[in-house]
Amino acid sequence: RLRPHPHTPRVTSRTQDSARSREPPTHMQLTTSNSRRLTVAAAAAAAATLVYLAYRRRERKLLKQNLDAIRSRASALLSNLGAPSGLIRSWVDPSCEYEAETADARRAFFDAHGFLHVRGFCTPAECEAMLRRMAELADGWDPLREAAAFSTGDDQEAAQGSSDYFMDSADRIHFFMEVKAEAAGGGLKPEYANRKGEALNKVGHGLHVVDDVFRAYCDAPKLGALVRALGWRAPAVPQSMYIFKQPRIGGEVTSHQDSCFLYTEPRQTCLGLWLALEPATLTNGCLWVRPGSHREALRRAFRRNPAHYEAGDATAPQMVFEAEQPQESVPWEGKLPERSWPPPSDGLFDAGFVPVECAAGDLVVFPGTLDHLSLANSTEKSRHTFQLHLVEGEAEGVRWSKSNWLQYPEGRSFHSLPK
Ligand code: FE2
Repeated sequence: RLRPHPHTPRVTSRTQDSARSREPPTHMQLTTSNSRRLTVAAAAAAAATLVYLAYRRRERKLLKQNLDAIRSRASALLSNLGAPSGLIRSWVDPSCEYEAETADARRAFFDAHGFLHVRGFCTPAECEAMLRRMAELADGWDPLREAAAFSTGDDQEAAQGSSDYFMDSADRIHFFMEVKAEAAGGGLKPEYANRKGEALNKVGHGLHVVDDVFRAYCDAPKLGALVRALGWRAPAVPQSMYIFKQPRIGGEVTSHQDSCFLYTEPRQTCLGLWLALEPATLTNGCLWVRPGSHREALRRAFRRNPAHYEAGDATAPQMVFEAEQPQESVPWEGKLPERSWPPPSDGLFDAGFVPVECAAGDLVVFPGTLDHLSLANSTEKSRHTFQLHLVEGEAEGVRWSKSNWLQYPEGRSFHSLPK
């Protein structure tokens, strides 16, 4: 056997090392190496978690700073609106003028700025009664039998303007899903099968007609007294809506004027009563209103389509949006101003909007020409509201337009608020 050359022992040695390394590892070696790997993986995971938590903390801090900034900006804007003074023209009856100082302060603020925030209008018990009643109604909803989605985006004309279920909801209780809860082939997505109440966008439009709990709120003396104090003389209620603004999927309501959907002649007389049944905040989709915009002309009207109803074209949409005024000055009509969300929401402020955060039981009242919107709900909590719309009655020479989507059967009239 040849002896290795004295200069080549390392080669031999490496070969031997290499041969040794090819030997299967012992149990002890395996355990040690695995546990080392596990330790490294655990350390990496822990580090990633820490980085993620730090990122989330920073995001939360930034969001809070931005929300605080929005709140102080809103509060400054609202306090600048101030108490009205001098001669004020009634919004509901333009021929009527009155002195702000001697009038009801609520009416003067409403006519001067176009909205009114009435804190604590309903008691916790009154809110709870409506929340509970809606939970019962939603429980009885059969999405397989009744299902239609609702949104105020670009598809609103096609969706609501071609849906018999929507058009038939005037004096009934119909259920409308969130678009994000709707399955591709219609009906509810399977994940909502056992929590269908969380899939609803809204329920309407005849809750005050057929349900005792919602009619009791509508007929409450304090509601009639408020509406009359603002200048309505013969208020009648064409519609009521329960809006859910569900956690995570509750969509935005784009900029609009309510009179677009609730048109009266010869002048606009719609009044919205927006009641927060749960807190409405910047992050779960509170109202944003544009003070003073109630004096602007109506921009669009959602009208029955003559092609469908008069020319008899069954394939034409039932409803269409028609421009009432040139819209250059309000380019965000039917959408949101740019840079609305995420905060600091400069685009909304630049367009003149101001948020109105509400506690449960607060009521926001505004006329049908006020520009308003609400953002999507990005939180884990719902933001339920009950909304009534009324108009001035025929006794005051006001007619409900025959071109509105909402029509009662011949001979039936809207519910009048008790005196
Ligand atoms: Fe509205």
